[in-house]
Amino acid sequence: MRLKGKVAIVTGAGRGLGKGIALKLAQEGAKVIVSDIVIGNAESVAKQIVDAGGTVLAVAANIAVKSEVEAMFTRAVEAFGCVDILVNNAGINRDGLLHKMTDEQWDEVIGVNLTGTFYCTRLAAAHMRERGYGRIVNIASASWLGNVGQANYSAAKAGVVGLTKTAARELARKGVTVNAICPGFVDTEMTRGVPTSVWDIMVGKIPAGRVGTPEDVANVVAFLASDEASYVTAEVINVGGGMVL
Ligand code: NAI
Repeated sequence: MRLKGKVAIVTGAGRGLGKGIALKLAQEGAKVIVSDIVIGNAESVAKQIVDAGGTVLAVAANIAVKSEVEAMFTRAVEAFGCVDILVNNAGINRDGLLHKMTDEQWDEVIGVNLTGTFYCTRLAAAHMRERGYGRIVNIASASWLGNVGQANYSAAKAGVVGLTKTAARELARKGVTVNAICPGFVDTEMTRGVPTSVWDIMVGKIPAGRVGTPEDVANVVAFLASDEASYVTAEVINVGGGMVL
């Protein structure tokens, strides 16, 4: 129960990594705002947390829309009084080779993965610096280093790394840490869309010899969100079974 009494927002928590993170933070004692653009999924994760004895609020929010992010924060503070932890997890991919990438593919991915993360982080920064406490964990990706077919996604995730490092420096003296996690290849609906041949190649590149699970990532989020990690900030942590060396 490392997070007993803390209030945590997890974006994109209706499935995949976000779901795993929300369940883990609740298990560690946090009151969790399970936020997702698909409210039905957020509600079913919330039910799982309630059934396990946790405290939770499901909120519909598209993080790419500023007014929806503001409403999400307002509801969180109304429900639980403050926000101690923000996990910027919501993200999408719209892959394609650069020379064929459409404006829509570019704008959508930057809009959700980078601008959405900025909207959430800006609000959290204002709230947390005033309170003198906070933990922000951004889910970036190993792809921030570049990946064929992911110019939009790599650019957005590299942007998230830059945002993380700047926010960390600005907030370090205010009791707020900001870190990024770069998952490698994790078994979620996002990756289940890739052809079997690509899946096999990806898994072949992982020294640990297996695909990651949402729990592998959630365990690191829980540490970064805890008081044990108060001296860890501005870090970019790979969670990929050795995929990025
Ligand atoms: P997923 O597609 O399974 O889940 C993403 C969740 O975000 C969904 O519940 C979806 O409804 C929600 N979402 C999408 N757009 C949203 C928006 N505009 N506002 C609010 N919620 C929105 O994806 P997965 O795999 O769980 O990915 C989670 C995060 O981890 C993403 O940021 C992704 O880029 C990152 N990641 C995933 C990896 C993997 O191998 N699965 C590897 C590296 C990073």
